[in-house]
Amino acid sequence: MNLYTTKFFTYKNNSLYCEEIELNKLTKEYGTPVYVYSKNSIIENYNRFVKAFEGLNFRVFYAAKSNYNLNVIRILNKLGSGIDVNSQGEFFRAKKAGVADKDLIFTGVGKTLDEIKLAVSSNVLMIKAESLSEVIKINREAGKIGKIAPVALRINPEVDAQTHPHITTAVSGSKFGITFSEALVIYGNASKYPHINFCGIDIHIGSQITTPDPFITAVSVMKDFLLKVLQLGIKIEHFDIGGGFGIEYKPEDNSKFEEIAALLVPLLKSLDCEIIFEPGRFITANAGVLLSEIIYRKRSGDKEIIMLDAGTTELIRPAFYGSYHHIQPLNLDESQPDIVVDITGPICESSDYFAKERTIQSTIEEETLAIMCAGSYASVMSSNYNGRRRPPEIIIDKNKVYVSRSRETFEHLLYDEKIIKEL
Ligand SMILES: Cc1ncc(COP(=O)(O)O)c(C=O)c1O
Repeated sequence: MNLYTTKFFTYKNNSLYCEEIELNKLTKEYGTPVYVYSKNSIIENYNRFVKAFEGLNFRVFYAAKSNYNLNVIRILNKLGSGIDVNSQGEFFRAKKAGVADKDLIFTGVGKTLDEIKLAVSSNVLMIKAESLSEVIKINREAGKIGKIAPVALRINPEVDAQTHPHITTAVSGSKFGITFSEALVIYGNASKYPHINFCGIDIHIGSQITTPDPFITAVSVMKDFLLKVLQLGIKIEHFDIGGGFGIEYKPEDNSKFEEIAALLVPLLKSLDCEIIFEPGRFITANAGVLLSEIIYRKRSGDKEIIMLDAGTTELIRPAFYGSYHHIQPLNLDESQPDIVVDITGPICESSDYFAKERTIQSTIEEETLAIMCAGSYASVMSSNYNGRRRPPEIIIDKNKVYVSRSRETFEHLLYDEKIIKEL
């Protein structure tokens, strides 16, 4: 079988390590399933991102939706990253992690009134607006408290991100953003919204984009649009290109990230604005793994099934989008043959699969497998379905192990739920 390794997830003496920690030893202490994140991998990914856009006037606002563990947010904020929050809950987390308001962007495709009130009463760098109604509400709520809200209209540039349809966000008819024509009407009527400073413009065309074309087309289209906005007397200070930069999920994938960045730099420079990036997956995905024990091996018809103690409750991406995650044993044993198996979870859903017909080294029950690239859109999408407790999140820094979040207890499952005698 192929192995997925990085500088921070490597095999030593046939045993998988995260930085200097042997993962087999870690699971003995903390059990499975467990999420493990490498601090130095997060740092390296962030630095790689920043380096690729050197020479540009830009800032990174890490998209907390991809992994909002408090310490992940804190590590990135300490490196100089702002944080893009998508809801009141993510705002709360970012504040708990110590992020200053000015380092926050308030995103959200359907903000509630409470979220709008929170956003306008804080001092975030920008609040995104995704419809005329939202612009009206932001103006009204800011007016009530005598503030001028810094707003970025999220435009739908109608560019196909050429990625999975479930993570494409900028095609015609999408629920995300505002059309060009409606945005021009809003900008033309800017004087009707005295409590808004239209200082930004925003797009986010999709996720896991691995080729330059969708980004280049989107920026070119937006460049023409910015000229029209300028003609209406609106001076845009921040151009927010969103996130979406793809990563290598398979050992054989070859990242074109630096190539994409090099093509984007001159284009973005010509916009004459501060550029804002909101990468999520690029920063955290390959910095995390989900470790899970094989609880059963069985046959079903002509299939060999490996059932893990993690399921879609801990990593829903394969069931949700048919996503590929490389899966490999913590212990390599060259005497064992490769076998072709379906790898499932223990959840009562037939979509509870991690992989179908996957080649993997034959591994026995009670051994542990590593599901790679589980640092993004894994723990944040986890659930208590089937009465399951969320796993711990552990952060490794060289030879140090930090439990950032413990395994939920059964009491967590009952949070504030009570027996009502009258019923
Ligand atoms: C508005 C916005 N910004 C940033 C991101 C982060 O995307 P990615 O993790 O693909 O970089 C998302 C993801 O859905 C998003 O919706």
